[in-house]
Amino acid sequence: MSIHISARPDEIAPVVLMPGDPLRAKHIAEKMLSDLRLVSRTRNIYFYTGTYKGTPVTIGASGMGCPSIGIYSYELYTEYDVECIIRIGTCGSYMMGIKLYDLINADVACSESTYARSAFDYLKNSVPHQGNAYDIINETAKAMNTPLRTGAIHSGDVFYRIDRTLPEIVIEHNCLAAEMEAFALFANAQYLEKTAATLLTVSDIIPTQEKISADERERSLDKMTDLALESAIKMV
Ligand code: HPA
Repeated sequence: MSIHISARPDEIAPVVLMPGDPLRAKHIAEKMLSDLRLVSRTRNIYFYTGTYKGTPVTIGASGMGCPSIGIYSYELYTEYDVECIIRIGTCGSYMMGIKLYDLINADVACSESTYARSAFDYLKNSVPHQGNAYDIINETAKAMNTPLRTGAIHSGDVFYRIDRTLPEIVIEHNCLAAEMEAFALFANAQYLEKTAATLLTVSDIIPTQEKISADERERSLDKMTDLALESAIKMV
């Protein structure tokens, strides 16, 4: 049991999949895992542990933003025997050439966030993915014939901005898309020498404001979930 997760130490698997939304965690766990148990529901942030093709996997939500995923991933890495966290989320594409439903495996997360500086005195504005999960996801996608892009992403601190021009950091690192969590996850994993990857589905195109509807979102995330689970079971 940690401050924000009420599971016992042996109730969390070494590999954790983390969507942002607790209800998405529930949906994926109920649909994809066998021998399912709800192991934490503190603050309605659900964590489920079960097996996928015989391998134990935990699916738990991160909440939104660096502070939230920073807390959950830090506690998972330090107070449970978690070695690898794969964030599975949605993102807004900065580029017209990237389409709705496309998948992105983040090689580096860039951010104006003070998270890494405040937590670890880390002064750069980018943190790479950690460990072998990124490579395993790329190899698994190839084997599954699932198209996957790789590149830098922008972990922003704000969802609503008045300025419609591209943030400077996006230009500096040629970021493909915006989300809000990978930077803190990668920073925690780097500091703690753990494994972390971020797999994203494009849910909106920022320049045109095109979006996947709420109804479509559920169905559209299946491809990403399958890839994350098939990758997760190769990690243990
Ligand atoms: N910005 C930040 N996070 C997001 C977005 C976005 O446009 N879309 C999905 N998550």
